[in-house]
Amino acid sequence: MKQQTFTCVDGDKLDTETAYRLLVGCVAPRPVAWITSVDEHGLVNAAPFSSYNYVATSPPMLAINIASRPGSGNTKDTARNIKRSREFVVNVATEHTMELMHRSAQEFAPDVSEIEALGIPLLPSLHVKPPRIALSPVQMECRLDQVIVLGRGINTLYIGEVVAFHLSDEIYDGKRVDTVAMRPIARLGGPYYSGLGEIFHRPMLQKPPGGEGWAPDAALKTGENQ
Ligand SMILES: Cc1cc2nc3c(=O)[nH]c(=O)nc-3n(C[C@H](O)[C@H](O)[C@H](O)COP(=O)(O)O)c2cc1C
Repeated sequence: MKQQTFTCVDGDKLDTETAYRLLVGCVAPRPVAWITSVDEHGLVNAAPFSSYNYVATSPPMLAINIASRPGSGNTKDTARNIKRSREFVVNVATEHTMELMHRSAQEFAPDVSEIEALGIPLLPSLHVKPPRIALSPVQMECRLDQVIVLGRGINTLYIGEVVAFHLSDEIYDGKRVDTVAMRPIARLGGPYYSGLGEIFHRPMLQKPPGGEGWAPDAALKTGENQ
């Protein structure tokens, strides 16, 4: 096989745009949190965020990095709403919701609701004020746990505790989420998204919480877990 050659780029002095371009190209595919939040007048805001993942299981927690608007230093509506109300809902973005989700990323004025502008159907939440997006098969009601300002201050990490999972019967059998049936959409670099693509199966080599998919024999054979 031909030997690879590499370009080394030092990270510490990178300007924000170059760092962003490298990160979104390298850290991919990323799941998309389609976040609903409300302002002080009850206006519902929806916007997508892919610098996002789960970060804790006891209790369940999600983290989202929200950047200030490039050049202006202005806070995005979602960040302002979460800081003020300490509540938000993460709706899983899917192939079915991709078009609406993508359009909700437009920079609407703070007093314009993406929900009304785009006709996004909602359902009430049980524990928090922000409603859920009815088209999404999974909606996670979150209470803000921590806000961490990162690096030079452009990015802020919002960590929320999931106080309720709402799971559509079409993808949840009471125990497992059928991720394939959910058809989640992922963000790549630039203007690209992807679906799940090919699925690979390998037995789990370490016992995960609950033991789902764990095959102790396979772990012993490879010498792992000893
Ligand atoms: C798929 C997708 C993912 C995005 N991910 C992020 C992100 O992780 N962090 C961020 O600050 N902005 C992200 N954006 C941009 C915001 O969605 C955009 O700035 C939006 O206008 C914010 O809306 P708001 O002011 O209503 O909160 C993303 C946009 C798209 C289309």
